[in-house]
Amino acid sequence: MFYDDPKKHNLKHNPFKALVAPRPIAWVSSMDLDGVLNLAPYSFFNAVADQPPTIVFAPNGPRPGGGAKDTLANIEKTNEFVVNLCSWELRDAMNKSSAHVDPEVDEFELAGLTPAPSVHVKTPRVKEAPASLECRFVTRLRLPSTNPKIENNMVIGQVVGIHIDDAIIDDGMVDTAAYHPLARLGYMDYTAVDSTFEMLRPD
Ligand SMILES: Cc1cc2nc3c(=O)[nH]c(=O)nc-3n(C[C@H](O)[C@H](O)[C@H](O)COP(=O)(O)O)c2cc1C
Repeated sequence: MFYDDPKKHNLKHNPFKALVAPRPIAWVSSMDLDGVLNLAPYSFFNAVADQPPTIVFAPNGPRPGGGAKDTLANIEKTNEFVVNLCSWELRDAMNKSSAHVDPEVDEFELAGLTPAPSVHVKTPRVKEAPASLECRFVTRLRLPSTNPKIENNMVIGQVVGIHIDDAIIDDGMVDTAAYHPLARLGYMDYTAVDSTFEMLRPD
C-alpha cells in the first residue's frame, strides 16, 4: 500500500507512529518560577549529538483549555529541564504523570515519585529513574502544522550533567537490558528492551 494524505491511509488508525518505532521516552521534569514541579512523558524524543550530548523532544500543543503544555511553558521561563529515562518497572508512574492536570499540580506527587536534587540545574530529577540527563534549553523550533488546532514544536537541549544508577553499570559499561528501557510503539502499544546483540562496524 501507499498513501501520502494522512486522511487517506484507509486503515483503522493512522499508522505513522507504529512505523517509526520504538521511540524512547523522555520523562521530562521542569519547574515554574514559583518552584511548582512538573513531570510528563514525551516519546517524540531522541539524542541528536554527543559532543556535547544534545537531545530533542516535541511538546506539541495545546494543553486542554489552550496554551503551551506546562513542560514547554516552564522550560521557556527557566531555560532548563531534566530528561529522566523510564524503565519497564516505572511504566505505571510514567503513565500517571501524563494526565492532563492543571499547571499547579505536581506530577511527582501524583505519580508517587521522589524529586532528587540535580547538580547543574535547579529542576529536580526523578530519584527512581535509572538515569537522568540535566539539560540547558538551547532553542525551540516551531514546526509546520497541517491542523490549525495543533502547534508543533521541537525543543533542543544540551545535556550538562548525567546521573546513572550504579546498579545498571557492569564492568564499566551501562547494561542497557538491565534497566529495561520503556519505549513507545504505535496506538496504545509499548515495548521494553530486555536483550541486546553486538555487531561490529566494517571499518
Ligand atoms: C508515552 C507517552 C508519550 C507521549 N509523547 C508525547 C509527545 O511526544 N509529545 C506531546 O506533545 N505529548 C506527548 N504525550 C502526552 C503528554 O505527556 C501529555 O500531554 C502531558 O499531559 C503533558 O504534560 P504537561 O502539560 O505537564 O507538559 C505522551 C504521553 C505518553 C503517555
